[in-house]
Amino acid sequence: MRVVTGGEPVGVALIGSGRMGSFHGETLARRIPGARLVAVADPAPGAAERLAAALGAERASTDPAEALADPAVEAVVIAAPARFHADLVVAAAAAGKAVFCEKPMALTLADADRAIGAAGAAGVVLQVGFNRRFAADWEAARALLEEGRLGTPRLLRSVTRDPGGFDPSRVPPGTIFNETLIHDFDTLRFLNPGAEPVQVHATADALVETDWRDRGLLDTAVVVVRFDNGAIGIAEACFEAAYGYDVRGEVLGSQGMATMGDGRRTGMVFSGAAGRSVETVRSDQELLASAYVAELAAFTEAVRTGAPVPAGGEDARAALAIALAAAESVGAGRPVRIDEVAT
Ligand SMILES: NC(=O)c1ccc[n+]([C@@H]2O[C@H](COP(=O)([O-])OP(=O)(O)OC[C@H]3O[C@@H](n4cnc5c(N)ncnc54)[C@H](O)[C@@H]3O)[C@@H](O)[C@H]2O)c1
Repeated sequence: MRVVTGGEPVGVALIGSGRMGSFHGETLARRIPGARLVAVADPAPGAAERLAAALGAERASTDPAEALADPAVEAVVIAAPARFHADLVVAAAAAGKAVFCEKPMALTLADADRAIGAAGAAGVVLQVGFNRRFAADWEAARALLEEGRLGTPRLLRSVTRDPGGFDPSRVPPGTIFNETLIHDFDTLRFLNPGAEPVQVHATADALVETDWRDRGLLDTAVVVVRFDNGAIGIAEACFEAAYGYDVRGEVLGSQGMATMGDGRRTGMVFSGAAGRSVETVRSDQELLASAYVAELAAFTEAVRTGAPVPAGGEDARAALAIALAAAESVGAGRPVRIDEVAT
């Protein structure tokens, strides 16, 4: 594995400066001492310039290839739309850059294999943006599992509820599985260490934007995942929760149960004439800010030291296989085996 030695921060280029990219750019520029934001690339006119200027990055470009050719760039963070991810990973690896890619790393298993192969051939670090692995509750549950304190996992649950307000015309088919629930599929694997999924049975519908059902929109879904150690996982998502952004998880094992996430913004409880209430979280960047920072800290550490990445290309492929099986299961109206999913 190619590593960056010495005490200098890792020079990073950000590719894609939209909502997620802006947060990652700020993390690289200001929140992680081990990283230095060198360049920003985004084809939207003015977007890279604006973010680079705000964050003090030296270079901005509308062409990601310019950042990949930059000798000061040792690593890239890809936060472009999903359909560009696999090609960008391949191009970055071919240029010898370490790669952090937002999820999903690819939209087909063939593209996932291409990305994994390119990083392997170049000997560069490849990490994927499964940030929930870095959230404190989930890390703590995984530690309990590794210590054996939960016993054998039997039932796993992972829930994602977005706050709504999405534009249905900008939701490509399969989004609920390969962009939203892909986090939950990775989480189910993370909470069942060493086991792999074998079969997926999904049901889904347009319950938020019902007018879009005939155009193939799916905004609400439940997916049952059977694992090779017998455990049964349930992943569920809905694009609209009236109370905000909500991510929760649970493992029921032979020795006990761990629950993760409670949707509260703080521990404060307000008591008034009408009763008691708590404030809820309103966005992913509010709930998971420290996980987003921790995943990039782990990435730059891996680039500097060769430490293993906690969510690599094979994890991206495994979660994608569940997503593709789930989409197929909805279409076919039956359970789908993971080994049936086309590459
Ligand atoms: N891990 C998470 O929880 C999380 C949360 C939100 C988004 N994401 C992921 O981050 C990625 C970006 O999402 P977003 O919400 O920031 O989208 P966005 O639409 O806000 O931003 C995407 C940006 O990429 C730019 N872009 C388009 N084509 C490009 C290309 N070929 N090369 C470089 N840049 C290009 C666009 O101009 C835009 O500025 C998606 O893959 C999404 O799934 C992850």
